[in-house]
Amino acid sequence: MVQVVLPNDANPLGFILGGTVMHLIDIAGAIACHRHTRTLLVTAAVDDLQFLHPIKVGDLIILKARVTCVFTTSLEVRVDVYSEETLTGRRRLTSRAFLTFVAIDRSGGHVQIPPLLVETDEERKVCEEAAARRSARLKKKLETLG
Ligand SMILES: CC(C)(COP(=O)(O)OP(=O)(O)OC[C@H]1O[C@@H](n2cnc3c(N)ncnc32)[C@H](O)[C@@H]1OP(=O)(O)O)[C@@H](O)C(=O)NCCC(=O)NCCS
Repeated sequence: MVQVVLPNDANPLGFILGGTVMHLIDIAGAIACHRHTRTLLVTAAVDDLQFLHPIKVGDLIILKARVTCVFTTSLEVRVDVYSEETLTGRRRLTSRAFLTFVAIDRSGGHVQIPPLLVETDEERKVCEEAAARRSARLKKKLETLG
């Protein structure tokens, strides 16, 4: 996904609002997941998020989303966010987010997700790392619920 940062998206310093970036991350992640599952989805979790560099009014914000691993009714997606200066083309990674979506039907029941084609060693590694993050997330959820 690519968008130009307009003044309406920015704080008084001329940097895009963190909340706007979070919204775009949610949308980009959801689109990638929808294209895999072709189901309704809800966001179950967004892992911790950092803003490494400001993205200025007039820059492009570029979001690249990739499904990393699917589980039974949930899947993880990675969203990398870049800024790109329109006049120079200079591109910088500004955030990386991992989100979990859960597939649901219209009555709220959970839906099984089709398998993800994992072919290369790199894709297998990405999926194993996602499985480790999933365990940590579910542990944290239990701790939060008490
Ligand atoms: C996310 C939600 C659907 C989970 O429902 P639930 O009945 O508590 O979940 P379950 O324990 O049955 O787990 C269902 C799946 O979600 C996953 N899941 C549940 N909570 C999770 C969390 N906090 N983080 C990551 N994954 C989670 C489980 O691992 C499971 O996946 P799996 O089938 O692949 O193993 C439910 O908590 C919910 O509706 N939350 C609100 C979602 C929302 O409003 N999002 C914002 C707007 S879209």
